[in-house]
Amino acid sequence: MKKKIGRIADIFMYGILLIQMLYVFVGNNVHEILGIAFFACMIVHIIIKGWWFRSLFKKGKPYSRKLFDVVTCLLFLSIFILMFSSMGVSRFIFPRFHLMGSSDLHRYMATAVLTLGVLHGGLAGIRRAKNKRMARILIFLGCAAAFSLGIFAVPYLNRHLKKVDISYSDKVHGDKVDWKGSKPLIVYFTWPENMESDPDLDAVSSASLLLADGELMGSNRLIADMVCDMLDCESESITLAGSRYPSSYNATVGIAGEELRSKARPETNPIDIKDYDSTILIYPLWWGSIPMPVATFLEQNDFSGKTVYLIATQGSSGYGSTVSDIEALCPNATIIPVMSIYCEDIPDSREELMTAINGL
Ligand SMILES: Cc1cc2nc3c(=O)[nH]c(=O)nc-3n(C[C@H](O)[C@H](O)[C@H](O)COP(=O)(O)O)c2cc1C
Repeated sequence: MKKKIGRIADIFMYGILLIQMLYVFVGNNVHEILGIAFFACMIVHIIIKGWWFRSLFKKGKPYSRKLFDVVTCLLFLSIFILMFSSMGVSRFIFPRFHLMGSSDLHRYMATAVLTLGVLHGGLAGIRRAKNKRMARILIFLGCAAAFSLGIFAVPYLNRHLKKVDISYSDKVHGDKVDWKGSKPLIVYFTWPENMESDPDLDAVSSASLLLADGELMGSNRLIADMVCDMLDCESESITLAGSRYPSSYNATVGIAGEELRSKARPETNPIDIKDYDSTILIYPLWWGSIPMPVATFLEQNDFSGKTVYLIATQGSSGYGSTVSDIEALCPNATIIPVMSIYCEDIPDSREELMTAINGL
């Protein structure tokens, strides 16, 4: 009976972990509830496998058992970090702790838990396998698949399949920040405002979409509106003067890659920053760098003696090479990175942005 319960809990744990990784399909609230279910199953697993703790420090164990112990300890460690980081990124069950965690840490820990979980289960089961060589190959392939799912497939799914419906005023309006000195100009670049044809929802294919009150909205535009609301200042959008990007995500990625390689400077409508001491530049990462229209904007203006604050948005790459790319384009300006926001966190980033801007 005990064994049966243990096996059911194990199957649930692996199933839940897999669903958790594919949370783009289940949404935040189900993800958080399943997270609690996972930890409940883990407690059942620990109670049933309690003998493992008692034998942990026994001497003279074979090499395979020592390896199993190390993997299990690492798995425990990553589960605990995952548990604490999940409270920090929770919006539904633990909203009070929100902002204490990092979604990057949470994603990396989830990948570690899945990969180590596969290794842990594989090493536990290998004793019963008749063909050990085949079992080792299967364990290796399972770990590689789990790792790739977390590192590559999840960010890919988020970029391509997610639809986020938000209420514009709930996300944008809120407390104000007291900016010392003269107000900055907010300058942002967003793909939907630079697409062929008007950013009409039906025309946009294969990308994750942000819908504000049902209308397609660029993520960087949303961030710009949040910052404008906080600081009560003006914003300008970097827009192409000539031909725009296609409304297909993949085609845009191809063109953007070509533009980066050829150091293209697509013509943009002029934005004049000379009346401002500082600019807050809000941009998405494209191929780990800035979109080339942003480079055009930076080269069009003289930033000498001015400050440029950077807010990046991205699908996994942090700032990529953007800080040094921008420094190279504005050699006499002071460049201050403020925040790099993971695309999924964008709609809920107002509070964190406010903390970062307040700290400047
Ligand atoms: C052409 C293109 C290239 C991209 N390249 C990267 C990248 O290299 N790294 C990354 O983390 N995200 C990348 N992304 C994802 C965007 O940075 C991210 O989704 C951003 O929030 C989009 O903002 P927007 O909707 O305001 O344009 C890319 C998106 C596009 C359209």
